Amino acid sequence: SARVPFAGAHQQVITHDPVAARASMSAFRVTAQDRGELAELFEILTATIADLQAGRLPDSRDPSFPARETGILGAEVQPDHLGIAVSVGASLFDERFGLADRKPKNLAKMPFLANDRLDPQRSHGDLLLTIEADHPDTMQHALRQIMRAARAHMVMAWTIEGYSRGTGGGHGSGQTPRNLMGFKDGTNNLDMTDDRVMDEFVWVGADDGEPEWAVGGSYHVVRVIRMFVEFWDRTRIVEQEQIFGRHKVSGAPLGSEDEFAPINHSADPDGETIPLDSHIRLATPQTPDASGDVILRRGFSYTRGVDGSGQLDQGLAFVSFQRRLEQFLNIQARLDGEPLEEYILPEGGGFFFALPGVEDEGTSLGARLL
Ligand code: HEM
Repeated sequence: SARVPFAGAHQQVITHDPVAARASMSAFRVTAQDRGELAELFEILTATIADLQAGRLPDSRDPSFPARETGILGAEVQPDHLGIAVSVGASLFDERFGLADRKPKNLAKMPFLANDRLDPQRSHGDLLLTIEADHPDTMQHALRQIMRAARAHMVMAWTIEGYSRGTGGGHGSGQTPRNLMGFKDGTNNLDMTDDRVMDEFVWVGADDGEPEWAVGGSYHVVRVIRMFVEFWDRTRIVEQEQIFGRHKVSGAPLGSEDEFAPINHSADPDGETIPLDSHIRLATPQTPDASGDVILRRGFSYTRGVDGSGQLDQGLAFVSFQRRLEQFLNIQARLDGEPLEEYILPEGGGFFFALPGVEDEGTSLGARLL
């Protein structure tokens, strides 16, 4: 399986296609005491991540000492699509490190949106690590190596693990994955292999009025959205299809047969074919004022057992990357009150900013920030 490169103007995993089969996100509280220690943290993260993505293991050690690596993967480490991204939260720019004047201009603590019930134990954070790989043991190895190396400067606050069927959706290789509601998810997503599209909608540009260090980074939204799947499974298929505006089996827009059939809402002004309040029509109304509201979605499904009342605890870890936070906020505002809300509950996540990449060896992620 393929190796995800580390070096580049952007953190490579964010747009790597195909998406790995597994992903996790872990948020940390930074315990570094000052700017110097924060710089040390970024150096440690960078070196450890570069080694992990290159498949380099530390030298073995005298058995009378603890091992330098977990041993989970044995002596020969496969690339396994391992890719890791580092993002920062608004709280990193509070008074602790004197970085307030360098905060990306729209980065803030994620407010309650739509019908949210955010759990403070599973929301926000100073730093977010996203780890993708094709197998869970590869992810656990990476997470433990990073936590061990950085333990003096950060403590985990929350983590979530999940899976995806390993494609970028319509433009990527292979089939569009399905979410846990049984619908294809990612049909109308951005083509991650098209640099021009990524520059237009995903990466912060030099003329965006953002701090200079942030150019090449991206606003990174995480929403852990529980799905009430038992309730959903008892809902009529036609009703489910009206909620999304697409056919369940084929993924085609209502009234069409092909998943990628073009949609023209202006030919259906009253929503007789695709309801006006369906998810896809609210998200992308095709009106001129909404034409810039385009985001890169890269979420994954999660299943974490059962809750206290015997209901399955599963859902979508929604992830999106965008050049301006408004691209996400505008879509989210239109979705407020959508019929889908009856079946979902956003419980956690946060707003983060994915750091620009590093192009030269010897430089650290976040070096320009500090
Ligand atoms: C499209 C599911 C949350 C933005 C879709 C589609 C599905 C889906 C099935 C149609 C297929 C596709 O084009 O990918 C869900 C579920 C959600 C959820 C189950 C929550 C559990 C969100 C959120 C946002 C969002 C929070 C952003 C605020 C979009 C966008 C599209 C889309 C922009 C493409 C619409 C189009 O242009 O056709 N979603 N979604 N979704 N969703 Fe969601």
